[in-house]
Amino acid sequence: MRPSPHRAPGLLLALLALLALATQAPAKAPAKSLALWPWPSSVKVSPKLLNIVVENFLIDHGPNSTAGPSCSLLQEAFRRYYNYIFGFHKRYHGPAEFQGGAQLQQLQVSITLKSECDSFPNVSSDESYSLLVKEPVAFLKANSVWGALRGLETFSQLVYQDSYGAFTIKESSITDSPRFAHRGILIDTSRHYLPVKTILKTLDAMAFNKFNVLHWHIVDDQSFPYQSTAFPELSNKGSYSLSHIYTPRDVHTVLEYARFRGIRVIPEFDTPGHAASWGKGQKGLLTPCYNPSQQIEKFGPINPILNTTYTFFNTFFKEISSVFPDQFIHLGGDEVDFECWSSNPNILNFMKKKGFGRNFIRLESFYIKNIFNIITSLKKHSIVWQEVFDDGIELQPDTVVEVWKGENYFEDLKQVTSSGFAAILAAPWYLDAISYGQDWRRYYMVEPLNFVGSKKEKQLVIGGEACLWGEYVDATNLIPRLWPRASAVGERLWSPATVTNLDDAYSRLVIHRCRMVSRGIAAQPVFTGHCSHEYEMKK
Ligand SMILES: *[C@@H]1O[C@H](CO)[C@@H](O)[C@H](O)[C@H]1NC(C)=O
Ligand SMILES: *[C@@H]1O[C@H](CO)[C@@H](O)[C@H](O)[C@H]1NC(C)=O
Ligand SMILES: *[C@@H]1O[C@H](CO)[C@@H](O)[C@H](O)[C@H]1NC(C)=O
Repeated sequence: MRPSPHRAPGLLLALLALLALATQAPAKAPAKSLALWPWPSSVKVSPKLLNIVVENFLIDHGPNSTAGPSCSLLQEAFRRYYNYIFGFHKRYHGPAEFQGGAQLQQLQVSITLKSECDSFPNVSSDESYSLLVKEPVAFLKANSVWGALRGLETFSQLVYQDSYGAFTIKESSITDSPRFAHRGILIDTSRHYLPVKTILKTLDAMAFNKFNVLHWHIVDDQSFPYQSTAFPELSNKGSYSLSHIYTPRDVHTVLEYARFRGIRVIPEFDTPGHAASWGKGQKGLLTPCYNPSQQIEKFGPINPILNTTYTFFNTFFKEISSVFPDQFIHLGGDEVDFECWSSNPNILNFMKKKGFGRNFIRLESFYIKNIFNIITSLKKHSIVWQEVFDDGIELQPDTVVEVWKGENYFEDLKQVTSSGFAAILAAPWYLDAISYGQDWRRYYMVEPLNFVGSKKEKQLVIGGEACLWGEYVDATNLIPRLWPRASAVGERLWSPATVTNLDDAYSRLVIHRCRMVSRGIAAQPVFTGHCSHEYEMKK
C-alpha cells in the first residue's frame, strides 16, 4: 500500500484513533514522520505520538529471541542504529527536556526462527520483518537476523525530531518483505580504483536503501587491483600501482562489513573479453593478435585453445570460491572481440581440428563451457552477461543471466525466462549514463515484470541492479552520482508493484536524501530546496 492523500480526521476520530491504530496518517502529520524509503508492503500509522527520551531509550534483544547477546551482528546493529537515530542530534543540539506524556522506552528485537548470526546472507535469505510501535515498548520481529536489520532501518526512519529537538514516533504497525530477492549495486574498481573507505560508505548507503547485493566488477582491461595469493603477479603487474590493490585483508574487510549489513558480495571476473590487465602478470594467458604481415601486434581475449589457460583458471577460481563466500560468481562474458582470434593462425588451426569452421561463437562456447565446469566443480553458481545467452552458448541449468543491452529489455527478459533461466535486470538502470534533471523518475517508473509472460517466467526475474560503471567515476564522485539516484531502483525492487506515485515518491525521496546526508552520505540534491537543520552533513 502506498500513502494516499490524507483526510483530516476530526477531533473525535483522532480520539478514536488513540484506541485503535488507524490505517491512514492524519493530515496534519508532518510528512517527515512518514518519509519511509523504500515504502514497506503494509503500513498502519496512528496519530498517537510517543515521546522518546534519549537517555531512557533502549534497543535490545527480546526475551524469546533465538539470537541473544552473543550475536555481535545484532549488537553492532543496535549500536549503529542508536547512533543514526540520536547520535548526531545529541552531539550537536543536546537533549530536549522531556515534558511528560506517552513514552516509548524500548525497542525489543526478536528473531523467531533461525538467527543465522554467524552466516552470510544468500539469495534465499528471509528479509521479512514486522514492527509494532506501541507504548511503552516497540517490538521488531523477524525470522532471521537479515529481516531484523531491515526492520531496524525502518524503525530509524519512523523516529522524528520535532522543532523543539524532542524525539517522537507515532504508534504504528508495519509488516514488510522485499518484492525481489536480488537488489544490487554494481561498482567498477578497474577503470578507477575505489578506496576501501569508499566501498564501505557505499555499503552503508545500500543498507539505508535496503539493497542486498554488491556486484563487485573488480577487474577489467584497465587494471587488476585484486591481489591473488596464488598469482600475486596479476596485481603486481596489472594494477595501476602497488597502492591501488585490494589485499586479502581489504577484501575481508569489505565482506565482513557487508555481512553486518545483510549484503552479499558477488565478485565479477569478466572473461574472455575485457581481460587485458590479466596479461601483464600472467604470460601466455591472452591470445596473441597478428597483423597482416603475420607478426604479433598486441594481445586480445583470453587464449581459449591452451590447456594452461584452464589449469590457471582452475587454481584461480578455487581461490576465488574460498575467498568470496557467496554461492554466485559473475563470469562476465560480454563484448568478446573476435577479430583477434580470427587473426591468429594457431586459433584457426585449433578450430579446424575441432570442426568449428570459422564460427567464433563455437570457440567462445568451448571456452565458457570449460569455465562453467570449473565453477560447478567448486560447487558455485554462475552469473553471466546476456551475450552468453544471446549467442546460444549452452548454459548450466542454474546459470543466471544479467540483461543489460539497450531498449528491448522486456523482450530479452522474456527470451531468458522462457528458456527457463533466472534473470537479473540491469538495462534501464545504467546510472553512469547521466543527463540533466531528475532521471531518478525514469528509473523509478520501470516495471521489471511488464512483459508478456507466464507466472513461472516472471518468477524467474529474481531482481535487478543499478550499475555505475567507472570510466568517469572515482572516489571523488561515486557517492553523489549513485545517491539518491539508485534509491529509485532500491524502492522499485523492494516495494510492492503498486507503489508508483511519483509525487509521493518525490516528497519522501527529498527527505530520505537529507537523512542520508545526515548519516554521512554525500548524496546529491533531488532538486532545489534545503535540508532542515538536523540534516546537515556530519563534519
Ligand atoms: C516469551 O515466551 C513466553 C513463554 O512462551 C510467553 O509467555 C511470552 O509472552 C513471550 N514474550 C514475548 C515478548 O513474546
Ligand atoms: C542460505 O543460507 C541458509 C542459512 O545459512 C542455508 O540454510 C541455506 O541453505 C542457504 N541457501 C542457499 C540457496 O544456499
Ligand atoms: C590438452 O588437454 C587435452 C584433454 O585433456 C589433451 O587431449 C591434449 O593432448 C592436451 N594438449 C596438450 C598440448 O597438452
